[in-house]
Amino acid sequence: MQAWWRSAVTYQVYPRSFVDADGDGVGDIAGIRSRLPYLADLGVDAIWINPWYPSPMADAGYDVSDYRDIEPVFGDLAEADAMISEAHQLGLKVILDIVPNHTSDQHRFFRQALSSDPGSPARDRYYFRPGKGEQGELPPNDWRSTFGGPAWTRSTDADGNPGEWYLHLFTPGQPDVNWDNPEIRAEFEDTLRFWFDRGVDGFRIDVAYGLTKDPELSDIGDFVWPVPVDRPVSVEHPHWDRTDVHQIYRQWRAIADEYDPPRAYCGEIWVGRSDRVAAYLRPDELHTAFNFEFLLAPWLPDHLRAVIDDTIATHTEVGAAATWVLGNHDVCRPASRFARDQHQVDPTGATFGYFRDLPADPALGQRRARAAALLMLALPGAAYIYQGEELGLPEVEDLPAEAMQDPLWFQTDGQNPGRDGCRIPLPWTSDPTTSFGFSPANAATPWLPQPADWGRWSLTEQDGAAGSMLELYRQALAIRADHPALGDGTLQWLDAGESVLAFRRDPRLECWVNFGETPVALPAQAQLLLSSAPLTPGGSLPPDTTAWLLP
Ligand code: NOJ
Repeated sequence: MQAWWRSAVTYQVYPRSFVDADGDGVGDIAGIRSRLPYLADLGVDAIWINPWYPSPMADAGYDVSDYRDIEPVFGDLAEADAMISEAHQLGLKVILDIVPNHTSDQHRFFRQALSSDPGSPARDRYYFRPGKGEQGELPPNDWRSTFGGPAWTRSTDADGNPGEWYLHLFTPGQPDVNWDNPEIRAEFEDTLRFWFDRGVDGFRIDVAYGLTKDPELSDIGDFVWPVPVDRPVSVEHPHWDRTDVHQIYRQWRAIADEYDPPRAYCGEIWVGRSDRVAAYLRPDELHTAFNFEFLLAPWLPDHLRAVIDDTIATHTEVGAAATWVLGNHDVCRPASRFARDQHQVDPTGATFGYFRDLPADPALGQRRARAAALLMLALPGAAYIYQGEELGLPEVEDLPAEAMQDPLWFQTDGQNPGRDGCRIPLPWTSDPTTSFGFSPANAATPWLPQPADWGRWSLTEQDGAAGSMLELYRQALAIRADHPALGDGTLQWLDAGESVLAFRRDPRLECWVNFGETPVALPAQAQLLLSSAPLTPGGSLPPDTTAWLLP
């Protein structure tokens, strides 16, 4: 039988913003449990849950203080076990998020490190180094935090004097661990087994392209990252995408394969080029990886076709299934990204997908988001849906400064608006007295404010409503589950003109996408299975519309 992860549609649950069952204004596991039937009915195959472990929340849970427990705000282990088993009863696989590049500064290992001497075994689990300069007052090298500022913070010795510096490629609350240390390897291997033993079907691996570092911790200098696609990767970056990281995944794969059925991994690998991503998907490493080249691609046929071809070619070479994704908790929501002039959006993601200064046409964004969903779900391989995409949620772009939570906003002094706008608690009903069904009545204010008109996007507004985004997703997922051509497999391009992407999936299904400004004729006699917008009265495919056809 074909492995499930080669064609699965995985729904990303961001627990803080999904459903708040206990009324504290933050989503929780009881809330997820209450909506599992909704997810099964939507037609997805798996759910991926962002970190739910104990955390001081310096980076919304990506700063884990105990990998084998549950953050009390979200629930407890018994609740997690119940959720896993209920998901399985509904036929949903469960993927958790593992964060192996860094721990929280409240993790027992880091606390031990801080209270131990320089050069001690406890410090060797992290990167502690003396500073440069006469008094050690300068960071050990030129590495920068991904969120802005230096990647080093100076610790304080027991006597109160400034001490060594420690490395953190993200916030200071997320110290990087030393993967050369056998205790670190053991800690994470034990964590994988802990959750696999509880029935979890796989892990999404945070910053999977990080982890190992140049032993010399040499300066980055003028190293251009990501390495442009037309250049060979002949010199390794000091801390991203290093050759020795693959060894870790070979060990992890062996652990996943010990289980029956085998567990699966999906890597978060932002390396800017699909050949480098595919290297992680060799048969003895990870199973899948997010396709960020697709996620960042502007809504332009040439660009998308190049990304699709490149993805399929590089993945086929290593025998891996391609994946497709339009959004997640780190990037601008697709409905708002597609609302902008696509010639002006930044396909490198260097601006993290925020295009606020460009004029937006929200209706056009919705139209393209619908077309993009049908394109994504027709491509060969697996796909990801970030919560709220099935409701067409836009990015919330007018959060006031006092509402901001994301360290990216704080570490850039507000230069980068951060990722809060895609993390707003979901609207389930149109009732503002319950935070639009996110919380029960009389609950605390949600952890991020919802816009006053948020109810218009809600489940209850869209449920059963012809032409709603939700009903489009439901129909598409139902067809996808049923039709043998969809999911894993191959694709043949059809020649349909320069503003159209059209391809055939076997057996007998075609997907047509019109990127142009005028309607295009569809093949005569083809039967329409589903389209993202009504065809013209004459049966042509309107602009920014995708159709699935039986030729
Ligand atoms: C990627 C996660 O998706 C993001 O939310 C987080 O801030 C960083 N990794 C650091 O863990």
